[in-house]
Amino acid sequence: MSSSPVSQKKLLHVLQGHPIASQASPPIWLMRQAGRYLPEYRATREQAGGFLDLCYSPELAEQVTLQPIARYGFDAAILFADILLIPQALGQELWFETGEGPRLTPIIDGDALRLDGVQAHLAPIAETVKRLSDSLPSQTTLIGFAGAPWTVASYMVAGRGTPDQAPARALAQKDPSAFQSIIDILVAASIDYLAAQIEAGADVLQIFESWAGSLEGDEFERWCVAPMAALINGLRARGIKAPIIAFPRAAKAHMGEYCTAVKCDGLGLDTGADIDAVRKETGPDMVLQGNLDPMILVEGGEKLTRAVQLILEKTRGTRHIFNLGHGIVPQTPPENVARLVELVREEG
Ligand code: CP3
Repeated sequence: MSSSPVSQKKLLHVLQGHPIASQASPPIWLMRQAGRYLPEYRATREQAGGFLDLCYSPELAEQVTLQPIARYGFDAAILFADILLIPQALGQELWFETGEGPRLTPIIDGDALRLDGVQAHLAPIAETVKRLSDSLPSQTTLIGFAGAPWTVASYMVAGRGTPDQAPARALAQKDPSAFQSIIDILVAASIDYLAAQIEAGADVLQIFESWAGSLEGDEFERWCVAPMAALINGLRARGIKAPIIAFPRAAKAHMGEYCTAVKCDGLGLDTGADIDAVRKETGPDMVLQGNLDPMILVEGGEKLTRAVQLILEKTRGTRHIFNLGHGIVPQTPPENVARLVELVREEG
């Protein structure tokens, strides 16, 4: 947290609405910047035993959060944890199948979910945040996060990741009040969890709506927009002033209307989004984050240089945070990430 009115944390500074010098390079961090593409991450994960053991070990989670900061000097560190820890904290069984991803025991309503154990279950995560707020360099912004209710509920209902979120969409249509009960519990648990991260020292929050693209029209309004708005309103009602970035990946709605409805301070753009078009919709004040294709980062070389230059040209002098359009993939060569940071700092 900053003690002076104008923070020396560049990323926080942009989100707080301070003026931006037209020649300044944008702050940069990458979604999934701590992860399997880094040999040092794989070593710590091995030491932890499993992915969830790593998430719940404040010491090791702190270590992997710091690894990409030490290597690349990103402007922000994102807490190492997962969006599916909340369902587990609510009492749902969660495990990770090696090479396949998350598994949960599917639910059809909120009846078995219990809010009263959430804070105790997630205390190690708050402890990780506390450690990070002490150990990070003073110029590095600390980002806390959670999944958005719709995205998290889609895993809780299906019991796993699905290409089209069909099980959750089916339940929402067949029994909207049962589905609403899951969403309401997630909103309440996420407010507590994110508030605890801020209390522990996070500077900024990002809310991942990875599956925004599977809903349209009234369904998008009811299951994506309304819960996200309730979550952000709930945090503001608790007196939390930290900037909040929403990331409604692949959403088909008008982003100007979305930002007004949810009252976010920053908007994450996926790889498919047209920065110029979104900027026209949101107006000049919204901070836009993104949106390099993670596959171009895998490829590197001239293609990477040109793609980075194009984004920098489009965003120069505007409120922008450089990022990918989705998470780093495990096959990314670490040296391409170093090159990316260099390009953004040189050319920005
Ligand atoms: O570096 C960071 O970005 C911070 C940590 C972070 C992780 N997951 C670590 C992780 C964050 C912010 C997330 C968010 C997350 N988790 C999302 C939203 C963002 C997105 O990608 O759309 C989602 C949908 C999840 C759920 C999840 N966790 C899935 C589907 C998987 C399996 C897919 C995969 O990449 O293996 C995970 C596992 C996971 N979460 C890993 C990491 C580093 C890989 C686990 C490992 O080490 O084996």
